[in-house]
Amino acid sequence: LLVNKANYRHFMAKEIHEQPEVVGQTLAHYVDMAGERIELPSKLPFDFNAIQRIWITACGTASYAGQVAKYWFERLARLPVEIDVASEFRYREAPLRKGDLAIFISQSGETADTLAALRYAKAQGLHTISVVNVSTSTIARESEVVLPTLAGPEIGVASTKAFTCQLMVIAAIAVAAGRERGELSKIEEIKLVHELIEVPPLIAATLAIEPQIEKLAHDIAKSRDVVYLGRGTSSPLAMEGALKLKEISYIHAEGYAAGELKHGPIALIDETVPVVVIAPYDRLFEKTVSNMQEVAARGGNVILITDAKGASEAAMGSIVTIVLPDMPATFTPMVYVIPLQLLAYHTAILMGADVDQPRNLAKSVTVE
Ligand code: G6P
Repeated sequence: LLVNKANYRHFMAKEIHEQPEVVGQTLAHYVDMAGERIELPSKLPFDFNAIQRIWITACGTASYAGQVAKYWFERLARLPVEIDVASEFRYREAPLRKGDLAIFISQSGETADTLAALRYAKAQGLHTISVVNVSTSTIARESEVVLPTLAGPEIGVASTKAFTCQLMVIAAIAVAAGRERGELSKIEEIKLVHELIEVPPLIAATLAIEPQIEKLAHDIAKSRDVVYLGRGTSSPLAMEGALKLKEISYIHAEGYAAGELKHGPIALIDETVPVVVIAPYDRLFEKTVSNMQEVAARGGNVILITDAKGASEAAMGSIVTIVLPDMPATFTPMVYVIPLQLLAYHTAILMGADVDQPRNLAKSVTVE
């Protein structure tokens, strides 16, 4: 398979910029546009009303997509979700219930721990769905239902477009589950479908902030540690932002649920530590802003990623604000991850790192 970088310097840059297109393609595969409803490409061999709990398992970036999934399934379908990294799930002897649903998220479909977790769940009599990017992969072959991401080949070791496509597929499954369980009315489903249709153009609009992020990368590149904070669905994004930065720039970074700041990481904060705060103007905004103020009071350099409303509400002298387009609250992770990807990418370039092939990392980890 020959994939080239087109006019980009790195595969990662190309893959970041492909997101409006591939996320749109993925959505098109899951939506009946005329009926304004979600239509999964495969019929599921179970009823969501018979499911008591969903067990989501994945590794790395895919596990952060799984964490976002927990918020969506719980809120839209009122279905409890357990999410764990595959290397823990496979050995922790969780009390699985026969007939419940296990979802495995993997770009490659070959990650050894995720595959082992799939085999384990199957052996326990669970229904299995895999959300994979490679439809010929082992995980795809061995799962009961495959719900593909249509990201196209992802070459950069640091996952970008696979992540946003995973989120799109999960959003579709969560809406379908909510409908089947009677948690979403027809009107609510139509509204959510319209919000999903808006995501690819919102990603495209967000990519336009790249020059601002590139400038900001100069400050990040001088730092030894960077902290990322967010609440709700922005909390797994904080972890994904930190992972992206550390894996390709080798700068130490930590992602935290913003409310946990005071329970430890605040001890790290001084004027040398940039703190990236992910805070769309949603029902948790005020809470996140108060955590941000705690950081600012200790001299931390706040970089606030928000929308126009958030920027005006949180106006404080010393912070850098990155203003993203306005959008409804539910599906913000697919848009708010874009500046995090761009920040990691531009910082890594300034550090002279090998962006597409970071040291010690493999694209697909097929050993335990
Ligand atoms: C490796 C890659 C990560 C990826 C993880 C899971 O560690 O470097 O980018 O998130 O594996 O891979 P998968 O193919 O299962 O999504």
